[in-house]
Amino acid sequence: MEWSLKANDYHPRYVNESDSQTFGIALIGCGGIAVNRHLPMYKQAGYRVVACCDIREEAARGAADKFDIPFWTTNVDDIVERDDVHIIDLALHPQHRMEVLERIARKPRAVLSQKPLHFDLQEAKRMATFAEASGIVMGVNQQARWAPAHRAIRVLLDRGAVGAVYSMHNVKRTFQDQPNTWMTAMEHFNIVDNGIHYMDLCRYFAASPAAGRKEWTRVHCTTAYMPGQNAVSPMVYSLNVEFGDKGGREPLMASLQFNNIVRAPKALNYEWRIDGTEGSLWANHNTLWLARADERNTFHEQPIEGNWMPDAFQGPMGDMMNALAQGRPPAVTPQDNLITVAMTNAAVLSSMEGRVVERAEVLP
Ligand SMILES: NC(=O)c1ccc[n+]([C@@H]2O[C@H](COP(=O)([O-])OP(=O)(O)OC[C@H]3O[C@@H](n4cnc5c(N)ncnc54)[C@H](O)[C@@H]3O)[C@@H](O)[C@H]2O)c1
Repeated sequence: MEWSLKANDYHPRYVNESDSQTFGIALIGCGGIAVNRHLPMYKQAGYRVVACCDIREEAARGAADKFDIPFWTTNVDDIVERDDVHIIDLALHPQHRMEVLERIARKPRAVLSQKPLHFDLQEAKRMATFAEASGIVMGVNQQARWAPAHRAIRVLLDRGAVGAVYSMHNVKRTFQDQPNTWMTAMEHFNIVDNGIHYMDLCRYFAASPAAGRKEWTRVHCTTAYMPGQNAVSPMVYSLNVEFGDKGGREPLMASLQFNNIVRAPKALNYEWRIDGTEGSLWANHNTLWLARADERNTFHEQPIEGNWMPDAFQGPMGDMMNALAQGRPPAVTPQDNLITVAMTNAAVLSSMEGRVVERAEVLP
């Protein structure tokens, strides 16, 4: 079995197999993530952005000027009326999406929505149900799944590099306590907005055949404040996730640790460790290592080409175009995202009430 990877085995720039010029993209919401991540990557990938919209005129005009987008507006209806728009890229905060979706539903178009569908599970369900009933093909932009290192991990798991997976461990140590931003003003931001990436990733890895394509069943989450932090909610969490019946007899679990740390760049850390019956792999964003029981005196070191930010942002849009061309659902459907949102909501409940929360309790 070949354990070494080539960049085109995992890099998101190779995902787009359909002719991207067939699809006109319109961006709604020209804020931070759209201008700094979506649009630069779409330009690099050669995707065709035909229009953009923001309720703030300077944001819409600024994005159009910077990325040579031929049409800008402050009115969503102008986007919905355009026949050259095939995919609407919704880069809004969740609380603004439903109203915009209702306007899109008048002339349904495929929609790629920023994650999370909504931080509140009931609202997320409402959006998923509405999109389906209105004939809107919807995908959720959980773009961490397309980050080169994460895809490389999944490719190796699928190839059986560690055998049957029974344990996944994630450590994230970073500074997220940005003062005077929407992030720190938002309740439970570190779990429901940022932490959702790592929770979604543990589902993405668990969906590998090597992990038995399992789904999470219960979580236990503890949280802590950082002394003097800016954020309104705890900035440290530790989450244990089970994928089966109580009692730990099921061969799969995950533990996810997020520590907000001071701005000390040398202390930053990001790592996944995945253990299986034939070996273990571990990775950060730059390198992936694999050690196997049948090769006791060696290990494989795989440099990773590209970065989550910004490379991964080509992936979900490329996938949406392929999905439309092939008549299949996008990789992350609203129904799929509900299971990740449910995990974040269960984690908050667990922390607030100091108990284990079952998936069946939040998502019957
Ligand atoms: N790595 C990631 O995946 C990642 C990173 C950052 C943000 N995000 C997500 O992206 C979303 C947006 O985040 P951001 O940082 O870009 O926020 P932002 O506040 O910078 O941008 C939001 C934009 O939406 C505009 N807007 C609001 N209502 C509108 C409406 N009805 N019609 C048109 N425009 C409208 C605002 O004027 C603003 O420009 C959030 O859901 C966030 O969770 C994802």
